[in-house]
Amino acid sequence: MKRIVVLTGAGISAESGLRTFRDTDGLWEGYDVQEVATPQAWQRNPVLVQEFYNMRRKAVIAAQPNAAHYALAALEEKYEVTIITQNIDDLHERAGSTKVMHLHGIITRSQSSKNPAFTYPINGWELKMGELCELGSQLRAHVVWFGEDVPMIEPALRICANAEVFILVGSSLAVYPAAGLINYVPDNVTKYVIDPKIPDISRVNSLIKIEAMATVGVPELVNKLLNNKQ
Ligand code: APR
Repeated sequence: MKRIVVLTGAGISAESGLRTFRDTDGLWEGYDVQEVATPQAWQRNPVLVQEFYNMRRKAVIAAQPNAAHYALAALEEKYEVTIITQNIDDLHERAGSTKVMHLHGIITRSQSSKNPAFTYPINGWELKMGELCELGSQLRAHVVWFGEDVPMIEPALRICANAEVFILVGSSLAVYPAAGLINYVPDNVTKYVIDPKIPDISRVNSLIKIEAMATVGVPELVNKLLNNKQ
């Protein structure tokens, strides 16, 4: 089966009611990212950070996958599909995709604040202060903050280098190292970009731009690929 690699960002979940980052004046749900999504923020005010991610988790649990998530799951009928997502929601999995790599973590899990390799499922939306990992440190959301390492980037690079078709959906490509992944896809491999505001990737070869919302552009492209009309 042909290998398709899909890189998704916040835009694919926008129509499920989860806000993107850079469409809202640099604020995330009213917060400056420095206040809630950095190791320094956690040092300064762990209660605020914990509450912020509890609210995000509540929203993710209430959200439903949309037509774009479902279409990508259907693509597995005829292709070997790997989804690399920058999103911390679990909507790809809930839509039925079986190979999903979370570059920036997943909010439905917790992680040790001493060692990020220790992660655990969370029951429900609330992670409480006082809940400890097996090393005895406070549990925090299993998400990669600004200034932290992205442990999955190496395997993600290899997956991109092996792609036979590449699809980018709903990412401004503003945040590295994720934004650099497209450069590892071989030059001759077709790269579809689906976004109502296509990011600037003029340096990249073999691009096909689809200027559309995810719930329109992704099902249309998936239909074409399933009918071998790409
Ligand atoms: N369908 C498709 N794309 C959309 C839609 C939609 N309905 N609505 C918005 N978009 C596009 C925007 O045009 C933009 O290009 O989604 C992109 C969202 O960009 P960002 O908000 O920057 O999100 P993302 O690229 O995922 O951010 C990357 O930055 O804050 C960090 O760690 C966080 O994973 C995140 C990373």
